[in-house]
Amino acid sequence: MNVEDSTAKSRRLAAVTEEVVRSFDGTESPRLKEVLSSLVRHLHAFALDVGLTEQEWTKAIDYLTDTGQTCTDTRQEFILLSDVLGLSMLTVGLNAPADERATESTVFGPFFVEGSPHIPLDGNISKDLSGTPCYVRGTVADVDGEPIPGARIEVWEADDTGFYDVQIEGAELDGRGHLFADDDGAYRFWSVVPAPYPIPYDGPVGELLTATARSPMRPAHLHFMVTAPGYHPLITHIFVAGGPHLDSDAVFGVKSSLIYEFTKRPAGTAPTGVPIETPWAEVTFDIRLVRD
Ligand code: BEZ
Ligand code: FE
Repeated sequence: MNVEDSTAKSRRLAAVTEEVVRSFDGTESPRLKEVLSSLVRHLHAFALDVGLTEQEWTKAIDYLTDTGQTCTDTRQEFILLSDVLGLSMLTVGLNAPADERATESTVFGPFFVEGSPHIPLDGNISKDLSGTPCYVRGTVADVDGEPIPGARIEVWEADDTGFYDVQIEGAELDGRGHLFADDDGAYRFWSVVPAPYPIPYDGPVGELLTATARSPMRPAHLHFMVTAPGYHPLITHIFVAGGPHLDSDAVFGVKSSLIYEFTKRPAGTAPTGVPIETPWAEVTFDIRLVRD
């Protein structure tokens, strides 16, 4: 193609983009118009950038179709796709409070369920989870260190084989619960030491990971969702210091401020003063929330 032809072709291609963007002129919602216009500009720029072939376009449509068809009531393959492409973490970061004193947030993940049991302070979120007992404690305070009594702390985790209760056919709720901070903003509960586990990789997202020589593994972590009236909700995890996959999380969720020492203790006396016959571990996680 000579230079004139190629310039004419570029102009024709640019005109397609402009025509599509103009088609949104009548959009009632200014935000929808802004988002769709930007999406089309970026999508078209992406196609031009990689020189998208018709076979690749077909493959992409088939891939997205497969992703949709893999979704069920309990599996959201599109969110998983967003997670492994880093879009979930980008969105989390974009919407996080700017105050550097606040506890950092991370990806929500697909294994939260409504209706977890209420557990008392010093209670146990594990009914029958396999794993080393772990005592988790800390305080919930604002960014100036002022305690937030009554803050609601929701926690959930996989067992030491890497499965959440909801992934086990017919299993009852386990490894999850919610509790409330006391008058000093303190909370404490028992769980098990979390283990690394793979994200679901038997579908289109797994195919993408395999094709790009990426691991499906997440480092060991314990999920938290902390809420209190007047404060920005916090969705985060704590990660086990020294564990594998901290620098290769399949969903890019690790932040160094969220890596905590889970200190191993021998059998003897638990922090609650009662005898404990097996080795156990403990971790302290102080949580800082920002006002709305
Ligand atoms: C999780 O930590 O539970 C999770 C997060 C993102 C994708 C899959 C699992
Ligand atoms: Fe998780």
